[in-house]
Amino acid sequence: MTLTIEEDRLEVVEKLLRDAMGDWHAYYAMEALRSGVANHLVALLDDKPAGAVIYYNLPTVEGGQATVVYYVVVADWARNEYVGRALVLSVEEVTDSQAYMATIAGGNEPSIRMFKSIGYDVVTYPEVEAAYGHRVLRKITRAACGYEDAYIAYKPPGKGLEVLSKLDWPSVELVFQRICYEPWRKLKERVLHV
Ligand SMILES: CC(C)(COP(=O)(O)OP(=O)(O)OC[C@H]1O[C@@H](n2cnc3c(N)ncnc32)[C@H](O)[C@@H]1OP(=O)(O)O)[C@@H](O)C(=O)NCCC(=O)NCCS
Repeated sequence: MTLTIEEDRLEVVEKLLRDAMGDWHAYYAMEALRSGVANHLVALLDDKPAGAVIYYNLPTVEGGQATVVYYVVVADWARNEYVGRALVLSVEEVTDSQAYMATIAGGNEPSIRMFKSIGYDVVTYPEVEAAYGHRVLRKITRAACGYEDAYIAYKPPGKGLEVLSKLDWPSVELVFQRICYEPWRKLKERVLHV
């Protein structure tokens, strides 16, 4: 099978997200893309859409940059063929960041295994809080809209978390408003008006 990674394939992203993660996650991911905050890459296996990754960059107070891997999804039929791994590694290639991170739901072993297989360290929220304090944990979860999750996968091990602890608060706040709070508010309004 031939694996290719492409940019600008928005037309196939929504279906990949919806099929792999359901309507709710697809809605948040698409809002992040439509807001202009996030970018995407699509993986094709023998020219067939097999997976997608949604990501965005955030500045640090030291003038550096970190990348949030917001969603990575692989179609059922394409799993365990290293598509997920290729998508995340491609994000690392097209960005120039000092740290990479994703938040992961409790019990999502495939995701934990995938991130570990490409050199990410995976830690629990309480572990981050114990090492860096409540304020840094709050900043990281806000940066990734990761309130429902339990783990942080980050790279490079050790140093990556240090970089993430220095994310620029106003930028985190702006991204949080656009990809997390506003979509939540719109959803709430829509539900209340039905
Ligand atoms: C998580 C996900 C993206 C992984 O994609 P994938 O293409 O199947 O993963 P890969 O083939 O790249 O796997 C990479 C590594 O993870 C391991 N792995 C992947 N799925 C696994 C599973 N179900 N059980 C055990 N190990 C698994 C692979 O064995 C491989 O490890 P190795 O190099 O040591 O052999 C895919 O399962 C998925 O789309 N899940 C639903 C959406 C989701 O939860 N996304 C993540 C949160 S945003």
